[in-house]
Amino acid sequence: MSAALDIKDIRAGYGAVNVLWDVSLSVEAGTTTAILGPNGAGKSTLLRAIMGLVTVSQGDIVVDSCARTGTSTWNMVNEGVVMVPEGRMVFRDMTVEDNLLMGAFPKRTRPRAQANLKTVYQRFPRLSERRRQLAGSLSGGEAQMLALGRGLMEEPRIFLVDEPSLGLAPVIVDEIFAGLRQLKEEGRTIVLVEQNTYKALSVADYVYLMQAGKIVMSQVAADVDVDHLHDLYFARKTGSEH
Ligand SMILES: Nc1ncnc2c1ncn2[C@@H]1O[C@H](COP(=O)(O)OP(=O)(O)OP(=O)(O)O)[C@@H](O)[C@H]1O
Ligand SMILES: [Mg+2]
Repeated sequence: MSAALDIKDIRAGYGAVNVLWDVSLSVEAGTTTAILGPNGAGKSTLLRAIMGLVTVSQGDIVVDSCARTGTSTWNMVNEGVVMVPEGRMVFRDMTVEDNLLMGAFPKRTRPRAQANLKTVYQRFPRLSERRRQLAGSLSGGEAQMLALGRGLMEEPRIFLVDEPSLGLAPVIVDEIFAGLRQLKEEGRTIVLVEQNTYKALSVADYVYLMQAGKIVMSQVAADVDVDHLHDLYFARKTGSEH
């Protein structure tokens, strides 16, 4: 159900502009890894590189010991590597249920679409109540639940979630993180991009800090000293001073 992810020394970017500089990252199956870092650090670019949405010019992406560098996005999804993008990206003119069913488009998951739909509704009852409503009329928090639900319809073995808390009220953020914690407890592999350090640390097993396209710190979440992390985050000190 869950898979391991290994990223080795990747470089990737947009056309002539390179963004990721020799980024390496190792995620054990069934664990949650948080990627923290300020705006523009390259967090979303890293997720896009894993998904084959930006070109990787160097390095390797390995899923459960199989090299997947250069694999198309479509095939990554077929391998169970699923991304919930930054900004939610729901189909506003479609109903909640049709948005979820879009997540069941890959042939691999289609036979289980109805069962998966039921599970998503149990996980996020608000979506069930609004199943016939257009996604464009949802609140930010509901739209985020929908984006997560659509991802879950794809039966992720590695679930990449980009900034689920962005712009949401604290009570909704708690609800979203309770959902993520439940997924973790069920043994999913999760890679979570977040700017909310405390929330990320509350769910993660392992933490990476990115800055200017590089990993500047990696640590077991339980060992993280938040003050030190924030010093690095805001570039008040360099990683080598410690
Ligand atoms: N489509 C694009 N074309 C060109 N450059 C891009 C594109 N998307 C992002 N970039 C650049 O890549 C760098 C990293 O951006 P990225 O979106 O990966 O950062 P991020 O860490 O996700 O930031 P945020 O926290 O704001 O989401 C930035 O300098 C950004 O301007
Ligand atoms: Mg981003």
